[in-house]
Amino acid sequence: MSTTPNTPAASSSQPDTAPARSCKVSTSSHDAPPSPAGKKPAPPCTLVIFGAGGDLTKRLLMPALYNLGIDGLLDDGMKIVGVNHGARETNAWREDLHQSLQQFAADKASTFHAGKLDDDAWNWVAQRLEYMAGEFESDDTFAQLKQKLAQSPGGNVIFYLAVGARFFKPIVEHLGKTGLLQEGEGANGGFRRLVIEKPFGTDLASARDLNAHILQYAQESQVYRIDHFLGKDTVQSILAVRFANALFEPVWRREYIDSVQITAAETIGVEGRGKFYEQTGAFRDMVPNHLFQLLGMVAMEPPNSFDAEAVRDKKAEIFDAIQPLTPDDVVFGQYEKGPAGVGYREEPDVAPRSTTETYAAARVLIENWRWAGVPFYLRTGKRLATRCTEISVQLKPVPFRLFRDTPVDALTPNVLTLRIDPAHGTSFDFNVKTPGPVMQVGAVQSSFDYADFFAERANVGYETLLYDCMLGDATLFQRADSIETSWCAVDSVLHPESGGAQAVHGYAAGSEGPAQADALLARDGHAWRPLQRDAVEKK
Ligand code: BG6
Repeated sequence: MSTTPNTPAASSSQPDTAPARSCKVSTSSHDAPPSPAGKKPAPPCTLVIFGAGGDLTKRLLMPALYNLGIDGLLDDGMKIVGVNHGARETNAWREDLHQSLQQFAADKASTFHAGKLDDDAWNWVAQRLEYMAGEFESDDTFAQLKQKLAQSPGGNVIFYLAVGARFFKPIVEHLGKTGLLQEGEGANGGFRRLVIEKPFGTDLASARDLNAHILQYAQESQVYRIDHFLGKDTVQSILAVRFANALFEPVWRREYIDSVQITAAETIGVEGRGKFYEQTGAFRDMVPNHLFQLLGMVAMEPPNSFDAEAVRDKKAEIFDAIQPLTPDDVVFGQYEKGPAGVGYREEPDVAPRSTTETYAAARVLIENWRWAGVPFYLRTGKRLATRCTEISVQLKPVPFRLFRDTPVDALTPNVLTLRIDPAHGTSFDFNVKTPGPVMQVGAVQSSFDYADFFAERANVGYETLLYDCMLGDATLFQRADSIETSWCAVDSVLHPESGGAQAVHGYAAGSEGPAQADALLARDGHAWRPLQRDAVEKK
């Protein structure tokens, strides 16, 4: 993760257009995207994408490479080899990718170059693309690849596994046995890196098994496990908010913080992924990975530096300190027919009596000096009332009743909300005196929106991850130990035979989730922040 400071834009106050009961911070704006100051092109390499015809390649990797090309962050000598089963000409692959990029650019709702692609930028990428037909489990594929990679610029190669999880092991094994993961002399002094997307296993045992398999053929330092949440600027900014502001860190502890809520609510359903979802469910899909990553960023101790190991060590300590969840700490739900559409069981490829959860809420405790006794409430779900990924940190009430007629517990608590998606920014709820002759206290909100300060960059969220991998900066990637401690914390919930079956409660599509999730917080005297409120506030 680059730590080059971005020069802030010159500040120019704008008229206050904030809605009542909300005070905006002063804003400024850019006309042109801020240049990635001080950033150099990554070293030359060949990027080998297994799964060249897949969705991930089309929707995220190619757009990200295009954006990196525009920013001048790729080396001229770079090559991109796409491997997939099925014979195909390189030109046909290029054309297919070109069309997808054009569609994204034409989609008004996307942030990808709304309007038009730049022909020169696309041609730059297109010239570097080469298609190679090959089965992911066949020796021939890897023999052919080896010949091709003998010419790799600088000897450097990144193998990106944009494939279904069942291919992870065979691909890594073939790469290892063909000697393609060997660095140093065999690779003309170049690096060999392996990028893997989740799922990293489906429970503790399978995650250990996958890690052990990979580490038979590659060093841990060669493995880049992606959690795409960490590619989001707003997620990386959690550390900036915490460690670059004297205001927050002193209160960032159990003495001042009452509770933390981490939400990843989606309005979409399973979108044709019924088969995958039936086997995965919301909990495995989101909790021990994306939501735990957010938890790690919020709860980790300050690292000594921004060195990859320093940051990852501190995050690992948090996953290790999570008190193992019991079935009592978790609520599962499944969407039923409601204002937002059909029920989950009516979706294609879903069993008519499926008990797969499309919603999961969890109460997480971190057993360490800083966080003992502070509940972290996590929730995620499909077909909820609004799309909103955010973290709300609620502070404890002030210690005594200073305002004569206002009991301390009637004051609105201070809440710092870090908005990850689709709103990008922060807001802070605090109290002020209301205007007028009587001393009365009223709650207001101050908010910061990225768009008010920084020009929108066409970013699909994989740019930083790809660039960092090319640079060899593993800060934003998952280490084997953290993957395993995360699964370990949730394992008893995943294996109901050892703790009683997890009930799955219905909720109407388009609602706030199952009522039982409210009860989970009510036990501690807390309540979820309403999703609907957020939709209104963020406008
Ligand atoms: C993926 C999950 O990892 O993350 C999806 O498999 C989910 O089910 C997605 O929709 C959410 O990511 P984002 O970036 O759209 O919030």
